[in-house]
Amino acid sequence: MPMPIAVLVSGGGSNLQAIIDRIEAGMLDAEIKVVVSNKADALGLTRAKNHHIPTRVLLHTEFDSRESFDEAMVQAIRESGVTPQGVVAMAGFMRMVTPVFLNAFKGRVVNIHPALLPSFPGVRGQSDAADYGVKIAGCTVHFVDEKMDHGAVIIQAAVPCQPGEGGDRLGSRILQLEHRVLPQALQWLAEDRLTVDGRFVHLKPSTRNLAIQPMADVDVETQALVWPPLEEGF
Ligand code: GRF
Repeated sequence: MPMPIAVLVSGGGSNLQAIIDRIEAGMLDAEIKVVVSNKADALGLTRAKNHHIPTRVLLHTEFDSRESFDEAMVQAIRESGVTPQGVVAMAGFMRMVTPVFLNAFKGRVVNIHPALLPSFPGVRGQSDAADYGVKIAGCTVHFVDEKMDHGAVIIQAAVPCQPGEGGDRLGSRILQLEHRVLPQALQWLAEDRLTVDGRFVHLKPSTRNLAIQPMADVDVETQALVWPPLEEGF
């Protein structure tokens, strides 16, 4: 049975689209049961509807506490058919979640962040890295805990940076990698290959004799490093 997932979005939903595309290509063994947005005009909602995926809009401004907002999200996700064993993917969801949410889906909530954590947490990860003048930037998929952009790291991808290239340009190069590492992390969860020991996430070897994906087709202008390596299909 495909792994049931909920995807949380606040904006463009290009990471959602990457998940949809990998599912439709038969590479990601998951089913998106619902897309939840805290913004009524999120393009991610349109992307979901284009693929006949149920959507829910929950406006955080209409709730009087973070906890009551999270309770409503938990209910919407459970109603959609995502069990506590399913996965919640925060894909450009610009809200922090509380223990109310995390306890409902214990160890099953992941987030994509556009920086190499623990550097540059927060909403401006790409531009903070660009403005800092780093030589290497990237993205991180991690389990979500109560602290912002903090939980145990599943996979990271790194790209070289040019001096002064700016957050927008750097961000668009990082985004190409986000679109690969997030679906890959979800597939590892679908295959039950991740174990967590404190801050350490261990990846069990595949039983499917998969080839490691060469990175040559990633146009990130020269090299990208992804670790653990992407597998066939990602
Ligand atoms: C991505 O860079 C994601 O990492 C960040 O917000 C951006 C959202 O992109 N949290 P999209 O909505 O998936 O297009």
